[in-house]
Amino acid sequence: MGVIDRYRDYLPVTGKTPVISLEEGGTPLVRADLIAERIGPGYAVWLKYEGLNPTASFKDRGMTMAVSKALEEGSRAVACASTGNTSASAAAFAARAKIKCVVVIPEGAIALGKLAQALIHGATVIAIRGNFDQALDIVREICEKYPIALVNSINPYRIEGQKTASFEVCDSLGHAPDYHALPVGNAGNITAYWKGYKEYKERGKVDRLPVMLGFQAAGAAPIVEKRVIEDPRTLATAIKIGNPASWKQAEAARDESGGLIDKVTDEEIIEAYRLLAAGVGIFVEPASAAGIAGILKKAKQGYFPAVTSPSERKDIVCVLTGHGLKDPDMAIKCLETPVVVDAKIEEVIREAGI
Ligand code: F0G
Repeated sequence: MGVIDRYRDYLPVTGKTPVISLEEGGTPLVRADLIAERIGPGYAVWLKYEGLNPTASFKDRGMTMAVSKALEEGSRAVACASTGNTSASAAAFAARAKIKCVVVIPEGAIALGKLAQALIHGATVIAIRGNFDQALDIVREICEKYPIALVNSINPYRIEGQKTASFEVCDSLGHAPDYHALPVGNAGNITAYWKGYKEYKERGKVDRLPVMLGFQAAGAAPIVEKRVIEDPRTLATAIKIGNPASWKQAEAARDESGGLIDKVTDEEIIEAYRLLAAGVGIFVEPASAAGIAGILKKAKQGYFPAVTSPSERKDIVCVLTGHGLKDPDMAIKCLETPVVVDAKIEEVIREAGI
């Protein structure tokens, strides 16, 4: 069952809404003691593994809503700007809905897996000589002038679908976490999680709210630096954004929850990326490691208070937004290439150190 059918009562849908679903959502919340040990005694770290959605990123939750509502409202085409994952998701859901999909991406700044997805799902892909922020400006204007539904996260239905991830976190834990950490790019995801947590509390499903911890890449940290970044830079291409569309909402989530939005360097992101893969067994794309890099950085700074009583476990949920196979180039780039030997057993044994 997809997120619309599972959380229908919390979503702006009616019996007339044509549900376009790929059975998204229902992703696991994986405990990661290796990370928790680095935070401190009494802490548990949970990884919301959103890379296990149908197009391998968290975007599918919002996209099922955006495309279903676009269809209900009579649109025959959808469009988005993207650093890659939104375009992959939009292309897949548009294919399922049998409508046209146009995606505008920054040339040369999209991970290979994401580009392959957008193309194979039949989207019209246009690369601009410019960055994500410029692509979004162009798509916004096109959608104002033509009868095409914009499916970036400024589309409120995207946020509605996306908020179901907080419901799942609360349903899995049996309560809201103490802290919720995630990467921040265009800031739709932090906006949606915060909305979801607040709604679950209003409906009496949980009795508290988490502290929201957002992390931007150091070379693309407009919210942290309180200014638009004209030329954002980071190897975490998914969050290479200099002027987030949901900037204000991200600040509201931070301030209302008593949380923070901080930045992590590319080195810290890659360290967390490798730790997740080699130490925890979960392969994510670099941007997804920003939340982990962030909580490790905050732990080193003494941000997390000591837990005094063993019965008072504190839960940190970290969202792993996209699968590592989206960006295989990055994984290979940060590792040594395999040694090549002759096809002889003794050579393989020697190299394997058996
Ligand atoms: N992680 C990944 C893997 C993403 O693809 C994105 C955003 C984010 C984190 C940040 O989420 O924008 O809601 O703050 N990707 C968008 C895209 C911008 O076009 O795919 P956000």
